[in-house]
Amino acid sequence: MEDMTYWKEVWERKGRDTTKSLEVLDGYEDTTANVAEIAKNIIKELDIKETDRVLEVACGAGGLAQYIKCKEYVGVDYSSSLVKKHIELLNNSVLTGEANDLIFKDKTFDKVFCFGAFHYFPNQEYAKKAINEMKRVAKKAILIGDLPITSHREEHLLYNMNDFKDWKIIEGYYNPNRFNVVYNL
Ligand SMILES: C[S@@+](CC[C@H](N)C(=O)[O-])C[C@H]1O[C@@H](n2cnc3c(N)ncnc32)[C@H](O)[C@@H]1O
Repeated sequence: MEDMTYWKEVWERKGRDTTKSLEVLDGYEDTTANVAEIAKNIIKELDIKETDRVLEVACGAGGLAQYIKCKEYVGVDYSSSLVKKHIELLNNSVLTGEANDLIFKDKTFDKVFCFGAFHYFPNQEYAKKAINEMKRVAKKAILIGDLPITSHREEHLLYNMNDFKDWKIIEGYYNPNRFNVVYNL
């Protein structure tokens, strides 16, 4: 789905939902995902410590953020309505922005992650820019999660494990058609 506006509008609408459920706002309601378990896995893989500065790219309303305990958490998301909800519900530091153009200086964060968003990107070039941005602002490690190999939705951008040669590959946390990758800097 090369047209950026399609998914952006979906996520803007989602943020206008009156629910206070972070799982629903982040779009997990029709999945088998256990968001607390996913967060636990990310914390373990990235070894997130209370002394770490952490950036979540495409953070949504904070479904995962609610479980991250660290020195400083910052979220970025392109849906201004979800950013507003995230701030209202969790009072985190969250900015409206795009994954391929992060406003932070080089090496601002110890750990950077992005879960459940890369399939909404318009094309592979965009995804490469987002990865380069994550590498640029990270000091120690990056995790990209929930990358689909195949999907029931033709609007999803798909990924291939072979494109992540220097990365540690981890099987999907709840969906066998997806995988996660970790990069240590
Ligand atoms: C399934 S939700 C995941 C939210 C959160 N990471 C979680 O797992 O709870 C997908 C999120 O990706 C965001 N998103 C999608 N494409 C994006 C982009 N290009 N830049 C920034 N955010 C994006 C959406 O607005 C939405 O909040």
